[in-house]
Amino acid sequence: MDKFIIDGGQRLLGTIRLQSAKNSVLPLLAASVLTEKQVTIREVPKIADVLCMAQILRELGARVEFSGGDVTIDSSNASNHEISSALTKELRSSVFMLGSLLTRFRRALIAYPGGCDIGLRPIDLHLSALKRLGVKIRERDGFIFCECDRLRGAEIALDFPSVGATENILLAAVKAEGRTILQGAAKEPEIVDLQGFLNAMGAKVRGAGTDVIEIEGVKTLGGVTYKPLKDRIEAGTFLIACAICGGETEVVGVPAENIRLLLHKLRENGCKIHSKNGKITIESTGKLKCNRRIETMPFPGFPTDLQAQATALNCGASGGSLIVENLFETRFKFVPELKKMGADIEVKGRTAFVRGVPRLHGATLVSCDLRGGAALVLAALGAEGVSEVLDLSHIDRGYFDFESKLSKLGAHLKRVRC
Ligand code: EPZ
Repeated sequence: MDKFIIDGGQRLLGTIRLQSAKNSVLPLLAASVLTEKQVTIREVPKIADVLCMAQILRELGARVEFSGGDVTIDSSNASNHEISSALTKELRSSVFMLGSLLTRFRRALIAYPGGCDIGLRPIDLHLSALKRLGVKIRERDGFIFCECDRLRGAEIALDFPSVGATENILLAAVKAEGRTILQGAAKEPEIVDLQGFLNAMGAKVRGAGTDVIEIEGVKTLGGVTYKPLKDRIEAGTFLIACAICGGETEVVGVPAENIRLLLHKLRENGCKIHSKNGKITIESTGKLKCNRRIETMPFPGFPTDLQAQATALNCGASGGSLIVENLFETRFKFVPELKKMGADIEVKGRTAFVRGVPRLHGATLVSCDLRGGAALVLAALGAEGVSEVLDLSHIDRGYFDFESKLSKLGAHLKRVRC
C-alpha cells in the first residue's frame, strides 16, 4: 500500500486543470450499454473507480478501450446481464447498472452492494422505483435478481433525492413504453450531465437539475462522443487546500454555482474568492476563522463529499465550528486521525464539535475512505512538520494525479511505494 510523506507549511500558488467528474463519468459508463453503437467519453480520469466500472462493462461482454485520455465502449457483443459480487462490492455505485441492464437485457443480477466506510447506503429507493417501472425483483442470499417483460413508463416519487436512484430511474426509463415522471429527483449537476449524454444518444429527457424530471421512452438510442463536466468535488478539494495552506490558486472549468455554498463558507473563513469565465480564484493568508456551522445537504446545499475537507480546515482555524453530516451515518471516521495532529474535535452521532487550534502538527495518519483520506492530506499540508498518510488506495479511487497536481502548486509531498 502506497503512502504520502508530506512536509507541511508550504503556500500553494498556481492553476489546477480539473479532471472530468468521477460522479458523472461513472453513470455515463453505465449508460453506454443502452446502445449497441460505439460510445466515446472524452478526458476520462483513469482513477480506480473508473477502471473498476470498465471491468464491469468488459464482464458484460463489451469492448472497452482507453486511448489518449478518452475511453471508447462497444457493447454490440454484450450478452451477460450478471455483475460479479467482487466488482459490486468494490464499486457500490455499480448499482445503477441495474437500470442499464434492464433496458438492454430485461434482466439483471447483481450482488447486494452492502454498506461501506461512510454508511449503510441502502438501495430501497432504487428497487421501489424499478418496481414502479414494471420490474419483478427477488432478493436472496445477498443477490438481487431483476427481470421484466417490458419496462413501462410510470409516475415515481422519491422520498429522498437520491443521486444514484435518480440515475437508475433515468437509465431504466429512457426506452420504456410511454412517459415517466420523476418527482423528488436529485438536482446535482451530474444528473444534468447524464441528461445531456442520454439526449445526445437520442433520448427524450427533460427537467434534470430540478426536482421533476420527465422521460419520454424512445425506441432506439444511437452512439455518442461526449465530454463530461469537470469535477466540482476535486475543485472544492483544491480550493480548501489553498485556504488551509495560504496562497493563491485558480481552478478552471467548474461554474461557481456548482459549488456555491462552499465558496460562501470559504469567504466566511476569511478567504477572497473571485469567479469569472469558468475560473474560480482563491486568495488565503492561511490564518482562518472557523465556520460557525456547516450542514451537508443534497444539492444545492453544502456537498457531503466536501465535508471532511471542510472539517480539516476548521480544526486549524480560530473559534469554534459545528459540522452536521446529514447524508451518511458514519462519515467522520477520519476524525481520530485529525486528533493525532492535535485537533480539538468531538463527534456525537452526526455532529462534530470543533474548537480551532492555532496549528496542527504532523503525525502518521491512516486514510479510511476517499474524501476522509483527502482531508488528511489537506490537514498535513497545513500542519507544522512532517506527516505520513498511509493506504492511498482510497484516495486513488477518486483523485487522478493528486500528488503531482499538489506538487505543481508548491506542496512538498511525495508518494512512496510500500
Ligand atoms: C452519490 O452516491 C455519490 N456517488 C456520492 O459520492 C455522494 O456522496 C452521494 O451521491 C450524495 O451526493 C456517485 O455519484 C458515484 P445517494 P449515492 O443515493 O448515489 C440514502 C464520493 O465520495 N439512500 O444520494 O450512493 C443514503 O443512505 C461519493 O464521490 C437511501 O436511503 O448517494 C444516503 O443517506 C461518496 N436509499 C442518502 O440517501 C436508497 O435507495 C444519499 O445517498 C438510496 C440512498
